[in-house]
Amino acid sequence: MHILTISGSLRASSTNTTLVRAIMRLAPSHMTFTLYEGLADLPHFSPDLDGDEPPATVRTLRQQLQNAAGVLICTPEYAFGVPGVLKNALDWTVSSGEFSDKPVAAISASPLWGGGENAHASLLLTLKALGTKVPEQGKLMIPHINKKLDANGDISDTETRQALTGLLETLAQTITAASDK
Ligand code: FNR
Repeated sequence: MHILTISGSLRASSTNTTLVRAIMRLAPSHMTFTLYEGLADLPHFSPDLDGDEPPATVRTLRQQLQNAAGVLICTPEYAFGVPGVLKNALDWTVSSGEFSDKPVAAISASPLWGGGENAHASLLLTLKALGTKVPEQGKLMIPHINKKLDANGDISDTETRQALTGLLETLAQTITAASDK
């Protein structure tokens, strides 16, 4: 089963992107992944651009979402919300509907104690608006992320690794249940 992963951070040494890469290595072999790398290239969403011929970068995002049975999003928190680039990408799918009924895992990670709880809540609201399926165990907030990744970018914290293993299992089960219908 194929999963599209999205990191909400554009930063070269992003902990969220490092975490996404670690999650892809942690996953069982029946789960395959593409890391979406087009966030910075999407134009600012405007309904005026969202006509019969949307920009090529938008078509690529939509195609990658269509090709994926599920999506895993990992985001930092900026000023109590999700980074604008992530919200922008999600807004580009409102009219085209790729997220409708799509199983999604939603992770926020922060160096602070809260784990990006405001961004997490905001992301869940947007995912609800898009009609995604986010299972209860597909939601995870990771505080102190900088202390939970080792120098190789692997997850050094046992509890976090276990939580992520459970999250991946739940995402896979949600995808299987959705495809059985
Ligand atoms: C932050 N950061 C942050 N953290 C948080 O928990 N709540 C917040 O509201 C904010 N706000 C915020 C605004 C701006 C402009 C920056 C640059 C940073 C800290 C943020 O969580 C931290 O820089 C993370 O390391 C960013 O994630 P990546 O880039 O490491 O994935």
